[in-house]
Amino acid sequence: MNLQEKYTLLDELNKKAELGGGPERIEKQHAAGKKSARERILQLLDPGTFNEIDKLVTHRSYDFGMEMNKVLGDGLISGYGKVKGRLVYVFAQDFTVFGGSLSRANADKIVKIQKLALQMGAPIVGLNDSGGARIQEGVESLAGYADIFYNNVISSGVIPQISAILGPCAGGAVYSPALTDFIFMVNEKSHMFVTGPEVIKTVTHEEVTKEELGGAFTHNSISGVAHFNGKDEDQTIMMVRELLSFLPSNNLEDPPIKTTIDPSDRVEESLQDIVPADPNKPYDMHDIIQKVIDNSHFLEVQAQYAQNIIVGFARFAGKPVGIVANQPAHLAGVLDINSSVKAARFVRFCDAFNIPLVTFVDVPGFLPGTSQEFGGIIKHGAKLLYAFAEATVPKVTLITRKAYGGAYDVMSSKHIGADVNFAYPTSEIAVMGPEGAINIIHRNNFTDEERAAKVQDYREKFANPYKAASLGYIDEIIYPRDTRKKIIDALDMTHNKRKSNPPKKHGNIPL
Ligand code: HXC
Repeated sequence: MNLQEKYTLLDELNKKAELGGGPERIEKQHAAGKKSARERILQLLDPGTFNEIDKLVTHRSYDFGMEMNKVLGDGLISGYGKVKGRLVYVFAQDFTVFGGSLSRANADKIVKIQKLALQMGAPIVGLNDSGGARIQEGVESLAGYADIFYNNVISSGVIPQISAILGPCAGGAVYSPALTDFIFMVNEKSHMFVTGPEVIKTVTHEEVTKEELGGAFTHNSISGVAHFNGKDEDQTIMMVRELLSFLPSNNLEDPPIKTTIDPSDRVEESLQDIVPADPNKPYDMHDIIQKVIDNSHFLEVQAQYAQNIIVGFARFAGKPVGIVANQPAHLAGVLDINSSVKAARFVRFCDAFNIPLVTFVDVPGFLPGTSQEFGGIIKHGAKLLYAFAEATVPKVTLITRKAYGGAYDVMSSKHIGADVNFAYPTSEIAVMGPEGAINIIHRNNFTDEERAAKVQDYREKFANPYKAASLGYIDEIIYPRDTRKKIIDALDMTHNKRKSNPPKKHGNIPL
């Protein structure tokens, strides 16, 4: 072989590998409203930055005639590139090759970049579209999955791990995404379930479609398994890029700063009357968040799940923060099982990756009822308490209205380690709401008028921020119009915070 022939051979191999399962199958993928694995990677990464690894790997299976059927790359494309100029590792399952199924060989490719991502300290994004374990390989494929799971766990809290589900993801295969930090799904195109509709029908006689069982709507609004959903692949992949822009590359870095022209001392007059005078009237906490963050730019996480709590990423003076906020417009902002678990996981993510926490509080307490008690609100509520208490990142808290009972303690109070605690003059910080308190203190039968007078009396005495401020539990009672500047100054003051918990193997969060 002369020199030219050697180059030609490489050209041919590259071209072959890049065709995956071939033009027909790529066409089928497009007809189904899906992109090819390679197109997805190119869309995720900055133009011209993708470097592929293991392009020529093939499977090593000799059963079922598989030795006659090898495809370069073996149904998985992996490598590294840049997102907004920063290093990111990526793999994409190629559905055009054996249904994107996981073989021993392509599992090894995923493991290789997982290890690289961990050692180099950069995020890893998995683009999932697979029929699951390569049926022809049996237990070797299961071993491959387990190796991936193991690396997911070891990388957890060290580098951000993101999963986009862009097609089927079923059986034990769902557990790699579940071990990562964020799951993205595409409306009507992606599905996740441990056992599919057919098995369910046989075992429990339930009839359910795969969309109902494990579609984007189900996992974003009912199960809470997923964190984001896009209307199509393009939007979903753009959202992955946006999420990455808020995150540091690893747990030793600070999150990236984005220059902003939004003035730090911006006064927002409209906040002065945003909290209604009537304490039982709802308002949308999003309005406060939008008005105080940089350019109203809020990336909400799990926006459709447990809507009584809001979590997401924003920036103050260019620096990313994690926002946790009760939502009085939904179930009065009460804490229940789902909202506690949702917020606890988010708080722990932010703490692991040095993202300061800004908490907006308007919470009437924990949701009463047998379904909550039987469901374990005690242990689930404890998760949020645990997460806030163990978080060592800067923590700034603002009480806008209600902060009652145990929920006051839980919502990043001074007592569990918040650095700066603000309250609006409209705040009511007390052991419980005036109505409940009067019912317990005065069990006698009062007339409605007498009861109303006592409720009013209690409200005036206790349902305000002044008692808490006199004890130093609230550092400052602020005018709502000044919220942005106050939060930015507090974040600035806490920027160099040095705090660590006692050394331990790990804590024992109530799971
Ligand atoms: C090998 C597979 C495959 C698999 C699909 N293919 N899944 N090959 N192993 N797991 C192949 C098909 O044979 C077909 O090849 C091509 O991929 C496209 O599949 P289609 O069935 O034509 O596509 P579609 O109609 O879109 O259906 C997609 C699908 C279906 C819903 C994913 O293929 C399917 O149900 N596959 C099997 C899923 C499954 O049971 N997997 C194993 C689960 S157990 P040709 O050559 O005909 O085009 C598991 C355990 C994991 O995953 C445990 C981890 C701990």
